[in-house]
Amino acid sequence: MNGRRVLLGVTGGIAAYKAAALASRLVQAGVVLDVVMTADALKFVGEATFAALARRPVHTSLWERVDAIPHIALARENDVIAIVPATANTIAKLALGIADDLLTNIALATRAPLLLAPAMNTTMLEHEATRAHLATLRARGATIVEPGVGFLAEREHGAGRLADEDALIAAIASVLRRTNDLAGEHVLITAGPTREPIDPVRFLSNAATGTQGLELAREALARGAQVDLVLGPTPLEPPAGARTTHVSTACEMDDAVRARAFEATIAIATAAVADWRPAVTHEHKVKKTGDPQTLALERNPDILANLGANKNGLFLVGFAAETEAFETNARDKLVRKHCDAIAVNDVGGERGFGTGANALVLLWGTDGRRDLGTGSKRELAARLWDAIVDLKKSG
Ligand code: C5P
Repeated sequence: MNGRRVLLGVTGGIAAYKAAALASRLVQAGVVLDVVMTADALKFVGEATFAALARRPVHTSLWERVDAIPHIALARENDVIAIVPATANTIAKLALGIADDLLTNIALATRAPLLLAPAMNTTMLEHEATRAHLATLRARGATIVEPGVGFLAEREHGAGRLADEDALIAAIASVLRRTNDLAGEHVLITAGPTREPIDPVRFLSNAATGTQGLELAREALARGAQVDLVLGPTPLEPPAGARTTHVSTACEMDDAVRARAFEATIAIATAAVADWRPAVTHEHKVKKTGDPQTLALERNPDILANLGANKNGLFLVGFAAETEAFETNARDKLVRKHCDAIAVNDVGGERGFGTGANALVLLWGTDGRRDLGTGSKRELAARLWDAIVDLKKSG
């Protein structure tokens, strides 16, 4: 953590006094600490406590130095925004994007990862509104350090006690590690469907939207990688920091990948590439006739297999969307396409193509396997990168 920048947001709960001990631990670990306190936090703990611990001014208002636009500077300069404790009110505002004080403005203006340590009364924690807001934030990629069960200020025993200091330090350290564990890597990602034209207005395609690939690109950028994205037709916006090449057909995707592959250190093929294309693309719209029609098809290049055939040290990850015998089929693809790992998703049910949720299992070697569980495509992107980083490290 030495030399890293942490913004500690303190909100108005009784556990605010524990944030002072956390601030001290972070400073002792070499962290450069910016503390932002909400108006309610100031009712529990004094600004002076944090200023003395951080040896830096504490920020409490949007209006203290308007000329310096403090929320933008603080939002950009920090490696993580850690809100400890996070009240139900702040959690709700963050989930909804409400920005009515300095801390919530910073949370909207930052690209840094967000970590929240909720602490509140058990009934408030278990309220559907709080649970829904926490789920929204988690799906957006926030790290939630779960509160523990124990003695609460109301003199009751229950869930809602701020997580203990060691758990908070470990969680902040883990987020910080993730912010640069792909530094120096050049990642190439294929994403989206392809379109294989029959005539100027008709094509063969599939239901992929590119969501999982875009989330992997976004996460790789957040972890410090350079990212090349080769993207098939989708209405979704690619992340601003990626170098994106828009393509339509599988052949165009193959050309774009070949042009970029020599720079890449890691490639992930998430694209749902059409296996076949019409043998003939008609120049004009095909007219309706009474006769039965046959569409002749020819094979498209296998982009992933082409990458696997010329790896040159490239760490190659494939995807396998399966509806049956999915691990057996995926292991076969892993070997056949010379991948270092393959992520399998079961697209038979409600998950997979075109949906927000996904479930992935990563396979490698003869029997390597890590179940990445279920979650939003954003959460799974983070877990997949964790697994790839571990696999690369181990060999
Ligand atoms: O063989 P199958 O299409 O199931 O393999 C899926 C994997 O191969 C995915 O990673 C997909 O992006 C990649 N693929 C490809 N080019 C193709 C077909 C699949 O890159 N023509």
